[in-house]
Amino acid sequence: KQEQIILGIETSCDETAAAVIKNGTDILSNVVASQIESHKRFGGVVPEIASRHHVEQITLVIEEALQQANITYEDIDAIAVTEGPGLVGALLIGVNAAKAIAFAHGIPLVGVHHIAGHIYANRLIREIQYPALSLVVSGGHTELVLLKESGSFQVIGETRDDAAGEAYDKVARTLNLPYPGGPHIDRLAHEGTPSIKLPRAWLEGSYDFSFSGLKSAVINTLHNAEQRGEEIKPENLAASFQQSVIEVLVTKTISAVKEYDVKQLLLAGGVAANKGLRAALTEAFKEVPGVELIIPPLSLCTDNAAMIGAAGSILFEKGKQSNLALNGNPGLDI
Ligand code: KG4
Ligand code: ZN
Repeated sequence: KQEQIILGIETSCDETAAAVIKNGTDILSNVVASQIESHKRFGGVVPEIASRHHVEQITLVIEEALQQANITYEDIDAIAVTEGPGLVGALLIGVNAAKAIAFAHGIPLVGVHHIAGHIYANRLIREIQYPALSLVVSGGHTELVLLKESGSFQVIGETRDDAAGEAYDKVARTLNLPYPGGPHIDRLAHEGTPSIKLPRAWLEGSYDFSFSGLKSAVINTLHNAEQRGEEIKPENLAASFQQSVIEVLVTKTISAVKEYDVKQLLLAGGVAANKGLRAALTEAFKEVPGVELIIPPLSLCTDNAAMIGAAGSILFEKGKQSNLALNGNPGLDI
């Protein structure tokens, strides 16, 4: 058989997702059941609610993915499932569904790291050329990952406190914007000007990041203005915050691209949906000719299972297989 068919499954946070990927790069189906509406009124993801939703949705989502791809279980060569990191109760639903199908139909099983998935979403857009660097910016992660070759990951820098998306969500909450706040701050930022002075954590000599100081500075700025009876335009605060985040992300990424002499930069994670970040990276990469900037479409930046299938396909080709002892691992290292 020439074709390789992978069923991808993702349940690490608040999206129940399944996808069918052909030959590692063709999306035959990509189904995502979002739970955002259920978590909104709590201002963030409630783990117990997430688990319950996954239980309700997982079978429906998998069957929908098979139906849209027009395949049956017999056509699947391997099942790729997110084994971690994430919420343990949420991970367990996807892992157990994958194990049940693998056992019942005798299909190989491959555990996938969630971040490897985000990175390999880029593979669904372009052929990856190594060495490549990935800027991973999501609600739970902010890191620069070097890929010297296919399926090898080396974290060269990471956040020491909040993830970029987490900072967006917390700043949004301070401004009374709904969860998840990233898209709202992004939209507001484009209506304002970055007129408020906010800090940038450069952490010289390392590729690490820090966003909690910036987040506190935003909160303090609002608080102080309130006490003085001054008015601060939320759109200007959003624009100033966004500029600070983007400046640090872009500057550090460009330095790493040069130092490691990579061929491509793979943007990954939910914050990759940020219009300001996309524009700033596009602009900055004009100054580093010969390095290709790949930015996946929004639907492949936020959590989905197509990316898990794309990463799983590489691991499976390299001979990685998990057995039925596979478990959800909330603190899994890449
Ligand atoms: O990758 P993702 O879907 O889930 C995690 O694995 O964390 O990322 C979700 C994060 C949230 O923090 C959300 O606010 C942020 O991505 N996000 C954005 C934008 N769209 C989503 N942040 C900034 N600007 C956006 N346009
Ligand atoms: Zn994610």
